[in-house]
Parts: sequence; structure tokens; C-alpha cells
Amino acid sequence: MAGRVMAVKSGGEAGFAEWRACFAALDPGLELLPWDEALRRPGIVDYALVWDPGPGELARLPRLRAIFGAGAGVDALLADPALPRHVPLVRMAIPEAAQRMGEFCCWAALSLLKEARRLAIAQAAGVWDYFEPPHRADRRTVGLMGLGTMGARCAAMLQGLGFPVIGWSRSPKSLPGVESHAGAAALPGFLARSDILVCLLPATPETRDIVRAETLAMLPRGAGYIGLGRGSHHRLEDLLAALDSGQLSGAVLDVFEPEPLPSGHPLWSHPRAIVTPHVASLPSRAERAGYVARAIAGFERGEPLPNLFDPARGY
Ligand code: NAP
Ligand code: GLV
Repeated sequence: MAGRVMAVKSGGEAGFAEWRACFAALDPGLELLPWDEALRRPGIVDYALVWDPGPGELARLPRLRAIFGAGAGVDALLADPALPRHVPLVRMAIPEAAQRMGEFCCWAALSLLKEARRLAIAQAAGVWDYFEPPHRADRRTVGLMGLGTMGARCAAMLQGLGFPVIGWSRSPKSLPGVESHAGAAALPGFLARSDILVCLLPATPETRDIVRAETLAMLPRGAGYIGLGRGSHHRLEDLLAALDSGQLSGAVLDVFEPEPLPSGHPLWSHPRAIVTPHVASLPSRAERAGYVARAIAGFERGEPLPNLFDPARGY
């Protein structure tokens, strides 16, 4: 098909060059435009591949046929009050992202289990901090909040390490070996069983501040917390209080509100917190371009787009 144009705002100038090279190999008939140029020629744009376009910018593209979010979470796009809601919005919830998320989640769970933060602090100080690590994976239940594309892969990979895994989602799930807890009423029972709590929920009004003093108090004393969804899910001051009181023995935090975490924030230097800069799962541009190119090819043949944002659910 001739004359198809995709506008890109993801990864800056260097990112654009790589996107262009990827799509040239996958779909030579698709012309890629950097975002600024697309906004100067809005009438020719068919597709947008974006992480966080400015408010109202997508609405300026009258020919837009589909929006591809550059990530699995599309909350940055939904924050735009002028987002053209009639245009299908595709989430980048791809197996490659789930695999990377699973790797990160396993690393984080093992880091809490083996007290990696304590070991790193001792090494930096040149101290032989001998101790007997108290926990074993098969005796620490991991509770996954969110059993979607990311959560399901994390569940399987954590089980491979020997962790018992339970999950909490809106609707009941049947994943091999994973005890399913569903709905708001099931949350306290789920939390009470979670020695390591992992958040992989989408950012919605219902999930805002879901990890706060009240819910942290429902965890077994000395639990670990791994925040991988969005910064809106956890209240940092409540996490700090729980770390200081010993209600939490450790935390691995990859997402914050705002990002970056402000310099000088007490979490940067907290002895029981590992802070990472929103890197839990970022598929390569080649992986993401392959998915977008396949989705566009199917769409132009009349097939449904994959992983569509569902306005009724809000994710
Ligand atoms: P997904 O497939 O849409 O799964 C979302 C899961 O959350 C589903 O199991 C859903 O339940 C559950 N859920 C949603 N609202 C809920 C509620 N109110 N109560 C209970 N459960 C609820 O999403 P995904 O692709 O796995 O991605 C999840 C999130 O991970 C993304 O939205 C993004 O924020 C985050 N993420 C972070 C990174 C990173 O690098 N840190 C990378 C990728 C993604 P149902 O199954 O019943 O629908
Ligand atoms: C990253 O945070 C994503 O949503 O893919």
C-alpha cells in the first residue's frame, strides 16, 4: 500500500534513526516522520508511535488510523484530555516485554531474598558483613498484583526459581500453579499471604495509592515490596515508614511519581531500598518495530489490532 505515514515520538533523535532503520527493513512502504515534522504536516499522518506526545498533539492529526503506545502502560497518553478516543490505541504488551519483566522481577525477588542491598552497602564500605541469610525461595510466597501479560510471565519465571506464587486481579485467573484471588474483597486475604508483594497493575483511578499504610499493614511483618507498575500505585512516605518500622524488610522500586525520583529523596540512600530508573522492561526498538509492523500489516488486511486499550476497563 502506497503513501502510508507513521509519526514517531519515542526515544528522541537517536531513537528516531533506529526506528527508521527498523521499519525500512520491515515495511519499506511506510514513511516515518519525526514528531515535529509530523505536526507541521498533520494531514498526511496515518499512524502514530508515541510514548508521551504533548497534550492535544494527537488530536491535530486528522487522518490518524491507529495509535501505538511505545510502552505496555498507556497512562501518559490517557492523561491527554484531547486524546482522540475514536482512534484505536494499541498497547506494547508483547512477549519480549513480558520476558524482560520476568527477568527483572526474578532479579528483584532474589535481591530481597538474598539481601542484595545490605551486601552492596557492605562492599562499598569494604566491610566483611558476614550474616546468615534467613530466607529460602520455596518458603517465601510472592503475591503478584496484576496477572496480565507481565504478571503471568513473572509468575511462571518466579515459580521456576522455586517461589510459591499467588496472584490478584480484577477477574479470576487460572494460571498453572498460581492461586487466584480476584476483586477488591479478596485483597486483604491475598496481602496477608504475600511475603513478597509485586505490583504489576495498570495506572487507573482504582489502583492509585493501592500500596499505602493501610494495605502495607496487611502484609506479613518483614515482607518485601517490588514496585514495577507505575509510581501512582505506591505512597512513598508510607513505604519509607514501613521500611523504617520493619513492617517491610526491603523494597525494590522501579517506578515513581514524579520521575525521575527527586535528588535528595530519602529513598535514594535508604539502606533497605533498591531504586532503579524505570528500566524493568524495555523491549528493543527492533522487537517493538516488528510488533507494530505486523499489527499494521494485519490491520490493513482487515484483521483486528492486538492489545487494544479498553476504555470500559480503563486499561
Ligand atoms: P495487562 O495485561 O492489562 O494486565 C493488568 C492486570 O492488572 C490484569 O490482570 C488486570 O486484571 C489487573 N487489574 C487491573 N485493574 C485492577 C484492579 N482494579 N484490581 C485488581 N486487578 C486489576 O497489563 P500488562 O501488560 O501486564 O502491564 C501491567 C502494567 O505494567 C502496565 O500498565 C505498566 O504500568 C507496567 N509496566 C511497567 C514497566 C516498567 O518498565 N516498569 C514495563 C511494562 C509495563 P484482569 O486480568 O482481571 O483484567
Ligand atoms: C513501561 O513502563 C511500559 O509501560 O512499557
